[in-house]
Amino acid sequence: MQKKIIFSGIAPSGNIHIGNYLGAIKNWVNLQNEYNSIFCVVDMHAITMPRDPKELRKKTLEVAKIYIASGIDPEKSTLFIQSHVPEHAELMWILNTITKTGELSRMTQFKDKAELSTGDSKALENVPLGIFNYPILMVADILLYDTNLVPVGEDQLQHIEITKTLAKRFNNRFGDTFVVPEVHITKEGMRIMGLDDPTKKMSKSAKSEYNYIALNDSEEIVRKKIKKAVTDSGSEIVYRDDKPALKNLINIYSLLSETPAKEIENKYVGKGYADFKNDLAEVIINFLKPFQERLAKLDDKKVLEILAEGAEKVQPLAKKKLDEVKRKIGFIV
Ligand code: AMP
Ligand code: TRP
Repeated sequence: MQKKIIFSGIAPSGNIHIGNYLGAIKNWVNLQNEYNSIFCVVDMHAITMPRDPKELRKKTLEVAKIYIASGIDPEKSTLFIQSHVPEHAELMWILNTITKTGELSRMTQFKDKAELSTGDSKALENVPLGIFNYPILMVADILLYDTNLVPVGEDQLQHIEITKTLAKRFNNRFGDTFVVPEVHITKEGMRIMGLDDPTKKMSKSAKSEYNYIALNDSEEIVRKKIKKAVTDSGSEIVYRDDKPALKNLINIYSLLSETPAKEIENKYVGKGYADFKNDLAEVIINFLKPFQERLAKLDDKKVLEILAEGAEKVQPLAKKKLDEVKRKIGFIV
């Protein structure tokens, strides 16, 4: 039997953090043995916000290196840069024509980025169009490769829903063409919250660097950030919904040390936040140190070669699917 296909990607922007790792990359590493895996650095998504070109180039390579240092094995998985396969943009155009503007304007990510919540009627006029149809590019990414499963964090659920909607809509209108994918989400890692505000997700573009632990943070910075992380009232270390800050910190501890939350609770009976936080910082450092060592050893040229080979491998698949789409809608191919 043919292996099922997974596809996922991260935009090369902001500071890649442990939320990205625990919500997405860690799962990719586990899934790559069972699935035919394609992991993309989505640079075309990154430019939906203004980017410094030099910085974008640097970040694109860095994200690919983060994939590899995290354990994505280029022998098992295919890695490539989105803009190296122009079929993504071409399919997106076609999918634009079957998407309703209402479907896009309801996206929470769009609403957040457009800051429509400010109620400023002028705000919409200044929103770059790329932020509006960002989800359609993601739909194209996924549908081009007959993807069965998309491993992402919870914040991407709406985007997977619209992927299914558009795949079905196209199939209904033009005949069976696209595989309708499913989302793959893990319970604890799906939503790592901000260290400075446990009501919002940890975010690459957070204003304060005390929101996240970046994958390139030094030991000293990790200790400082964990010391400053907000906690809940009370002093016991318990894993409960009414203690969202602590729950989040225990989740991070648990996922990075592969220790069940219950065991962590037991370990800190009679102890306080200071002990717990000291140990948590060490758990994070124990994870980051070997990761950063692997990252530092990666050779830029070699990684660029891996990415070029990856694009060469997937481009014919993308072309085949796009040609099928073109034929079905009546283009002369
Ligand atoms: P982004 O940071 O929006 O580019 O997201 C890249 C990947 O990381 C996506 O699969 C997200 O769902 C996931 N992700 C981002 N932030 C978090 C978070 N705080 N917790 C869990 N997963 C996250
Ligand atoms: N939109 C995703 C994010 O912000 C990134 C992404 C782009 C993606 N294309 C994708 C994720 C395809 C999974 C599959 O995280």
